[in-house]
Amino acid sequence: MESEPAVDHDLATAEMRAQWNRTAKGWDDAGTVIRPWLHKATQAMLGMAGVVPGAHVLDVAAGAGDQTLDIAERVGPHGYVLATDLSPEILRFAAEQAAAGGYRNVETRVSDGQRLQIEDSRFDAVVCRLGLMFFGDPLQGLREMVRVLKPGGTVCTMVFGTPQANPCVATLMSTALRHAGMPPLDPYQPGGLLSLGKPGLIDELFIEAGFCEIATTKVAAPFRLPSVKDYMNFIRTSAGPVVQIVKRLDPATAEAAWSDMEQALGRYQQPGGWEGPNELLLTAARRS
Ligand SMILES: C[S@@+](CC[C@H](N)C(=O)[O-])C[C@H]1O[C@@H](n2cnc3c(N)ncnc32)[C@H](O)[C@@H]1O
Repeated sequence: MESEPAVDHDLATAEMRAQWNRTAKGWDDAGTVIRPWLHKATQAMLGMAGVVPGAHVLDVAAGAGDQTLDIAERVGPHGYVLATDLSPEILRFAAEQAAAGGYRNVETRVSDGQRLQIEDSRFDAVVCRLGLMFFGDPLQGLREMVRVLKPGGTVCTMVFGTPQANPCVATLMSTALRHAGMPPLDPYQPGGLLSLGKPGLIDELFIEAGFCEIATTKVAAPFRLPSVKDYMNFIRTSAGPVVQIVKRLDPATAEAAWSDMEQALGRYQQPGGWEGPNELLLTAARRS
């Protein structure tokens, strides 16, 4: 048998959960920078997913709930959102935000997107913002989305594109690995930040999962902040995969790694502020 034993996936998933439990507060605190960064792409994603008034929507890998509240706003009081995530710590913030905003149409549930414990054919739409690329088995995640959608239901996922189109992400990972004495990783290795950016891959996975009417759109999402230091503050507190590598280093090596990243990314400093290029892939599809 060529396939990995299931226990390896379980271990990787447990590590992923621990990683996001640790960075949960950082991701929530960074809401003020994440929201403007992803606003335009998020609105496009919700439109492509068919999030309309009255719809029942599943938000997979919902994190601290930023896009969950946008969905709740769109579906209105007659609609419903179930926000799910692998990490209970990060999902707690989504629940708190929904309660604080008075959204009574939002529920949260801790759930691995590869094993949603949700009945078949329950939702009109499924959304997954910057989550699917972390799945060790994204095809299984997509199969679960097909299963819980009603016939005719729609989905839209958002993932990062190629390393060339996301040079900041690529630089952060390669610099962290170099300081850790680790060899460069295949950027398309399952579970990595850029794993679904390989041209054509996400469409192939959607086809294999059984979706129809599949269309992927590239969206530019530059990260605009006053300075590279602000970007590094965001990365150091919120970017789970990078923090995960650097935290294994002794304090002096870790500081050298952060400093090298800052220096390399300083090339995106402009007179009016810092602007890091990012390209996102929005993939929309329908369950037949
Ligand atoms: C970059 S954050 C994105 C959170 C949120 N969707 C957003 O855009 O603000 C990635 C999220 O994916 C979640 N995640 C990773 N693997 C997962 C899995 N197998 N099932 C469900 N959620 C997962 C993490 O816990 C984390 O909350």
